[in-house]
Amino acid sequence: MKRTLIALALATCASAAEDLWTAKVQPLLAARCVECHGPQKAKHGLRLDSIDAIMKGGKDLGPAVIAGKPDESPLIKVCVMPRGEEMAMPPKGAALTTEEIAMLKEWIKAGAK
Ligand code: HEC
Repeated sequence: MKRTLIALALATCASAAEDLWTAKVQPLLAARCVECHGPQKAKHGLRLDSIDAIMKGGKDLGPAVIAGKPDESPLIKVCVMPRGEEMAMPPKGAALTTEEIAMLKEWIKAGAK
């Protein structure tokens, strides 16, 4: 019984992450990051247009996301850096909003699927 419940909880978590990816994470990255981290250009070897590519990561910071650990994930770290720092992302346009960062963190916490 306990096992079933845990399996159920994990499955619910995975589908929450999958829904977030499709509904919010991917559109946000596509709008703000993929022009420099995608098929056209991959700055620092990093592409953010698929989960596989995100997990493969970039040249300096390694895997951009550590599933379950938003605060240790480079993808979050670079987005909360003070504007003007070399690695602060995205380097042009406005910083991501508090809501966008919270949503990205939620996706990572839910397993980043
Ligand atoms: C205008 C182009 C541009 C956009 C848009 C952009 N980046 Fe970057 N990104 C760069 C450049 C250039 C670097 C290398 C930074 C440096 O060393 O100065 C970089 C580096 C990074 C790295 C470190 C990669 C490594 O070496 O491991 C991460 C993580 C990252 N970006 C995430 C993001 C995220 C998340 C977004 C969207 C919110 C984003 N970037 C949007 C140009 C961009």
